[in-house]
Amino acid sequence: MEGVKRGTGYVSLTFAVVLMCAVVVVIVPGVSATRWMVGGNKGWSPGVNYTIWAQDKDFYNGDWLFFVYDRNQMNVLEVNKTDYESCNSDHPLHNWTTGAGRDVVPLNVTRNYYIVSGKGFCYSGMKIAVSVENLPPPPTSSPLNEKSSSPSLTSRGKIVLPMVFAIGAVWDTFLRFW
Ligand SMILES: *[C@@H]1O[C@H](CO)[C@@H](O)[C@H](O)[C@H]1NC(C)=O
Ligand SMILES: *[C@@H]1O[C@H](CO)[C@@H](O)[C@H](O)[C@H]1NC(C)=O
Ligand SMILES: *[C@@H]1O[C@H](CO)[C@@H](O)[C@H](O)[C@H]1NC(C)=O
Ligand SMILES: *[C@@H]1O[C@H](CO)[C@@H](O)[C@H](O)[C@H]1NC(C)=O
Repeated sequence: MEGVKRGTGYVSLTFAVVLMCAVVVVIVPGVSATRWMVGGNKGWSPGVNYTIWAQDKDFYNGDWLFFVYDRNQMNVLEVNKTDYESCNSDHPLHNWTTGAGRDVVPLNVTRNYYIVSGKGFCYSGMKIAVSVENLPPPPTSSPLNEKSSSPSLTSRGKIVLPMVFAIGAVWDTFLRFW
């Protein structure tokens, strides 16, 4: 009996490790660019604090900001830091408004972006500042070398590890009751 239990424990551990390698290899290269829906399901609208929306997110070179809003009321204007702070939209650096109420701003330069809505809506909180960073170095391609692949599990890979442990735990429970 003792031998059987040890045996299944070993099998489930091996399975979890194999699964972990597979998940890491599959997921990490797939997250190279993100299209951020600004404001989540509230979109680009008054009453959302975009500083709070952005503060727990990492924006990388190659991502996009996607603005969804009422095209008859708001717009999407890129301004400088001074004008962002004072809500001055008289001298936009770039007018990203296309007229459809759905505008995409490519974050293709590593710098700060300041975007506001004109027509008075900046004063209702429709202003966002994001700091765009370079993508962290890609993970080592060899899944067998755990030491070198571990550091890549920071930043965007952070969902991977808990997920792997969760799957491993479920699988472990499954094997115990089998
Ligand atoms: C932003 O633009 C305004 C108006 O064009 C200008 O007065 C101000 O000095 C600029 N600020 C920065 C930080 O470039
Ligand atoms: C921005 O561009 C749109 C579409 O071309 C135009 O309708 C709008 O007047 C422009 N807004 C500003 C503030 O330049
Ligand atoms: C970034 O995207 C804008 C808009 O598509 C484009 O005009 C600009 O050349 C791009 N810049 C770089 C560095 O790729
Ligand atoms: C958003 O929340 C932050 C932190 O609570 C606050 O400092 C800031 O003034 C708020 N911004 C707006 C536009 O309400």
